[in-house]
Amino acid sequence: MPKEKLSPNICTRTTPFCFFALLFVFILLPLVNLADDGYRLWLKYDRIEDTAYHRMCREHFGSVTTIGASAILQVAEKEIRKGLGGLLGTDIKDTGFSGSRLILTKYRDLPAHLKTRLPEDIPFHPEGFVIQSVKEQDGWKTLVVGQEDIGVLYGTFHFLRMLQTRGSLTDLSVKSMPKVQWRMLNHWDNLNRTVERGYAGLSIWKWDELPETIDERYVDYARANASIGINGVVVNNVNASPHILKNEYIQKLTVLSDVFRPYGIRLFVSVNFAAPKTIGNLPTADPTDPEVQRWWNNKVDEIYKLIPDFGGFLVKANSEGQPGPQDYGRSHVDGANSLAKALARYDGTLIWRAFVYENRGNDRVKDPYDEFAPLDGQFLENVLVQTKNGPLDFQPREPFSPLFGALPATSQMMEFQITQEYTGFSTHLVYLSTMYKEVLTSETYAGGKSATVAEIVDGTAQSQLMTGMAGVSNIGDVRNWTGHPFAQANWYAFGRLAWDHELSSEQIADEWVRMTLTNVPEAVQTIKDIMAHSYENMVNYMMPLGLNVLSSLGHHYGPQPWRRESFHGASKEGIGYDRSTVGSDAVSQYFAPNREKFDHLETCPESLMLWFHHVPWNYRMQSGRTLWEELCFKYNDGLEGVRTNRRQWYTVRHHVNETVFKQVSQLLEKQEDEAFWWRDACLGYFSQISGLAIPTAYEAPRYKDTDLKKEEQQNRNIKHHSH
Ligand code: GCU
Repeated sequence: MPKEKLSPNICTRTTPFCFFALLFVFILLPLVNLADDGYRLWLKYDRIEDTAYHRMCREHFGSVTTIGASAILQVAEKEIRKGLGGLLGTDIKDTGFSGSRLILTKYRDLPAHLKTRLPEDIPFHPEGFVIQSVKEQDGWKTLVVGQEDIGVLYGTFHFLRMLQTRGSLTDLSVKSMPKVQWRMLNHWDNLNRTVERGYAGLSIWKWDELPETIDERYVDYARANASIGINGVVVNNVNASPHILKNEYIQKLTVLSDVFRPYGIRLFVSVNFAAPKTIGNLPTADPTDPEVQRWWNNKVDEIYKLIPDFGGFLVKANSEGQPGPQDYGRSHVDGANSLAKALARYDGTLIWRAFVYENRGNDRVKDPYDEFAPLDGQFLENVLVQTKNGPLDFQPREPFSPLFGALPATSQMMEFQITQEYTGFSTHLVYLSTMYKEVLTSETYAGGKSATVAEIVDGTAQSQLMTGMAGVSNIGDVRNWTGHPFAQANWYAFGRLAWDHELSSEQIADEWVRMTLTNVPEAVQTIKDIMAHSYENMVNYMMPLGLNVLSSLGHHYGPQPWRRESFHGASKEGIGYDRSTVGSDAVSQYFAPNREKFDHLETCPESLMLWFHHVPWNYRMQSGRTLWEELCFKYNDGLEGVRTNRRQWYTVRHHVNETVFKQVSQLLEKQEDEAFWWRDACLGYFSQISGLAIPTAYEAPRYKDTDLKKEEQQNRNIKHHSH
């Protein structure tokens, strides 16, 4: 078919039309583009531009039928209309069963003749779903089928994701179910709306307006979470105010749980162990005291009366000054089981954190294992012990916590940090999926067998009763939710990995970039490349080779190695913390052969070398450099990486929203400045301690901040002249 030519006279012949067309193209369209403020996260549903793909979508999914009308299915129906409506740029029809269409339904409500067209082994997991294309005489039926309503909702979001990422449209045969039972966000939000370690504004929970006013954000928050499979939310800080348990707050929590319910999200709260004393006016909070048990029972009754599907409690006890059972000479088991008993009467869950340490001058990374490993098997069935990914405290890189594998008779869940407390706040672009995967794929050798951390966490290795993954939220009330636009990717990646830890970081990044930033293939590739290297860059310019806690006291932003001697142990001779069998012996908390591997300097991975060993400055590294040279090299390598990322980001400027482009450019510039800051502060300090000079190649900034701008200007000029 000959291509249609645009008549050169078209404007003169149709002036009013032309005026509005020009107005739209030159004024309104850029405004639409400018208006992307990040609020919609990865659920943008902007119109598909590729005409062939758009046409196919319209043919196949222009009509939708939802069978059933529960609250969850209504939400699924609403989402599909919003999603398809946006992607296709048209209203979605819903006329019976004829013709090509999308059908959302529970398995038991699916018409019999269509049931037979599903694969035999469809997931009979309550949260699982299948998406299946079925060719019938009158067209394609695309079935989104769940065992229960919630599976239909998850399938709906998955289906929309497939379209958003321009996936294939016919012959679909997708099966999916979550690998862990609890996929949770932990908010460290205080009741006065400040957020501990939060870098994205105030808390999204407007306690002063609740229960009367329901902010639209609560609904969009629930949608976003459901779209990645999050099914539990702890709304308040682990350093918990006892007031959250007052009736006034329970009323507010009730409203939030009503919002979350149709999205399959259960509400949990962090509780203060001393609450029976502080708000209950009892003389003690001793967990073995019958009055105290009665108080917890009554409190739990009060909550379940209003929130029948309340999830349960999260507790930080005897940690960093928080009250706990040890205040009364009782154990973590006594404390956890007392609250668990109260919750068990309603099928509630008690999550007890293993993040404990005492500043006794010993090696604190050993404390969680030393306290919890001996308690294995003593917690009640509805107790989950929540363990941070590493044995210390969310450092840029830590080995996995040796508790994974050491509690075969205890349900244990993973705690990752999504908020970037030690990894650049909301200023640095760091794609944390790489770190999550590094931890999850670590081999524990628990019980002398091959078992990755992920296999411990999902229960396949040790058959725990309950499983879960929690992520400390990076969400706040800033318009784009997370501050740095790329910090959204960490929320997204956490949810996706909690659903399926076998997904690769690359695949998750691919989804997120396509849904959030662009579908232009070269741009997608470049942005994925930026993300892929961002984690290692950050480790290198902050704390390479297993160094940790070089950050400022208190707020943890920026370098302060001169106040962190106890963590890095730098001296004239060398640097690092000796955790080998002749040092603090933390290596012995790991199963063989990890124990031996970490114990010997020669076999210890260099990426964790200074975590496990105190190493002489002139030690020869695999690269042939001395340790000192390697350290200098790493700091610079990280810095170079950020520079490369800046260059790469500049190349995608025509393919991403202008506002986002500018915002990320500015943040990357700042990140580069701060990489210099880290390098100069740390190398300068270590040079002083060791008496070693920084090799000239690494001595002074090799680039000035303005260089890249000049480079960009030159590029622009070259382009301009060549046109
Ligand atoms: C870190 C963090 C604290 C937090 C604690 C925890 O130490 O800095 O703000 O309360 O972790 O996980 O409980």
